[in-house]
Formats: sequence, C-alpha cells, structure tokens
Amino acid sequence: MSYTLQDFCAEIHEILVAENNADGREKVHQKLEQLLGNETFIEQFCGPDKPEGVYKLNEDPTTGAVVLCHVMGEGAMSPPHDHGASWAIYGQATEHTVMREWYRTDDGSDDEDISLEKNSEYRLDPGQVGLFNPGVIHSIEYPDNARFVRVTGVDLDRIDRKAYNLKHKSVKTIRAASADAA
Ligand SMILES: [Fe+2]
Repeated sequence: MSYTLQDFCAEIHEILVAENNADGREKVHQKLEQLLGNETFIEQFCGPDKPEGVYKLNEDPTTGAVVLCHVMGEGAMSPPHDHGASWAIYGQATEHTVMREWYRTDDGSDDEDISLEKNSEYRLDPGQVGLFNPGVIHSIEYPDNARFVRVTGVDLDRIDRKAYNLKHKSVKTIRAASADAA
C-alpha cells in the first residue's frame, strides 16, 4: 500500500498534538519523505498537467498545520523573508530548490538600513525535505516547473512575517490578514 496524503495528514496530526516542537518537526520531516515516495500522489498533485498555482491540501483544525502544494511555472528567486512564529518543512517533488538561510548582522535598530549575511545554502532534489525553524530568515530559488509540498505550523496568512530587501537594505512587516479583511 502506498503512503497517501490522508495517511500523512493523520500521522502528522498525531505527531504535532503530542510534540509540536523540534522532535515533532523531525518526525514530520521523515513522514514527508515517505509521502514524496508515493508516485501516485506526486502525479496527482504535482504532475505535468497540474496548472500553476498554490493548492491547500489540508489544514488541521486542531494543530493549525497546513499542507500546501506549490506548482511553479517560471523559475524564480524569492527575496529573503521569515515566517514569523511558524516553521516550514519543504519537500521537493519535481526539479529542485536551492534553500538559503540568512541572518541579520546589523543591530536591528533601523529597518531602513539592515544588513544580511548568508548562513547556509543547500539544494533539495526530488524526494528530499528541508526545514526552516521559526523566525529563520530564508530564501528559495528554483528553475522552471519546480514543484514542492510545503507544511507550515500555521496558516501564514494569519501571522505577521517579515520580508527583506537586499538592494534597498530594508525590511518590512507583512501583517496578518485580519478575519474581516476583504
Ligand atoms: Fe518561506
């Protein structure tokens, strides 16, 4: 029997209810590797006929964890950003993603005059999984037709995050979308 999306969602529910911490995230990491081994899942959600877009595959009402499928078109490089208080676990389905982690080297007092340095860089190939812990500044770069599954601790639209502009040496806060926003 293949390891299905339903199996994955049920198992990460149990894991995160018991351990919504570093140990739990390591277990979710392993489960996502298992899910990426299911060729039917990859074909259905990340196959060549899937139109570009970001698809929410599941949101756990108890833990808040969200499973998304990102079907990218043209290759791109994101600016450095964080996910606020949420962690994110990325699992590569097709092509690859270069993952970079950054840290602020200024004293944090002026959001219009920041400096970032790269901490680490690694590449995810199909079947591989990477983790960004809460608050970690990161960026991703991928070629055309890259597709990946992403699990976040919560729906990122509901929390404040930060986006960094390397050219202008600035940072801005992306506010949580309020429940009554249009
Ligand atoms: Fe991100």
